[in-house]
Amino acid sequence: VAVSLSVDVPQSARMYCYYLGGKDFYPADEAAAEKVLAVVPGLRVGARANRAFLHRAARVLVQDGVDQFLDIGTGMPVAPNLHEVVQGWNRAARVVYVDHDPLVLVHARALLTGSREGRTGFVDADVRDPAFILEAAAEWLDLSRPVAVSLGAVLHFIPDIDKPAGVVADLMGALAPGSCLVLSHGTGDFRPVQADQGVQVYQHSGITVRVRSRSEITALVPAGMEIAAPGVVSVHRWWAESGALDVEDGEIGIYGLLARKR
Ligand SMILES: C[S@@+](CC[C@H](N)C(=O)[O-])C[C@H]1O[C@@H](n2cnc3c(N)ncnc32)[C@H](O)[C@@H]1O
Repeated sequence: VAVSLSVDVPQSARMYCYYLGGKDFYPADEAAAEKVLAVVPGLRVGARANRAFLHRAARVLVQDGVDQFLDIGTGMPVAPNLHEVVQGWNRAARVVYVDHDPLVLVHARALLTGSREGRTGFVDADVRDPAFILEAAAEWLDLSRPVAVSLGAVLHFIPDIDKPAGVVADLMGALAPGSCLVLSHGTGDFRPVQADQGVQVYQHSGITVRVRSRSEITALVPAGMEIAAPGVVSVHRWWAESGALDVEDGEIGIYGLLARKR
């Protein structure tokens, strides 16, 4: 079931766009996002750090020779977007964007046109339907070769009852050896009271959030995959570049990891 198209109902993609300083949100999203920021003020810097992590991980993968990306839970376009990052390194890289918010897809289709040599595709789907996502993505990606799956700040919208680990296992299980997983996920490990207040605000806006501990997030990585160095760490520390953010993990509240399928 796609999310509501009503602009009066806050949506996670548009709230996140607001945290990032983008421009694709409505007053209802801004009001909900401000309520979250009132209890979790680090979210603005956390959102930026999360995006920077996803891009660093993508760069590592392109340098490793991965040239196909499946980005699930894309979010509103905010430059640079994934295809701009990876096609900047390899013009022929292919990127498929997947989101369940129809408005994200409208904006993405309009803005995220890729390089002439590469390909950029769009799929309107829920992350909880991996079989559909893979079938649709096959229009652009060669699934007999390695694919990097990016799940950036999306699985914390999937409650335990929907078995997020099973979703990831189904996705990665269908992909070729050498395929990779880039995952980021909100946590309450560092500031549990604050995280819980943030979760409550989302809940009041009609959005389910389930922050997870480091071990719960590690358990989302399917058997048969190896978590690469530096492991499961705060996104701003993952192969941080010189001049990187000098803030506490609690300010960020998001773990990131990269794993490879043997
Ligand atoms: C916080 S944004 C993250 C955007 C981007 N991946 C990043 O990390 O910068 C979460 C995105 O996941 C999408 N999303 C949330 N639940 C989803 C679901 N069940 N299936 C597909 N997409 C979902 C939202 O529409 C939103 O675009």
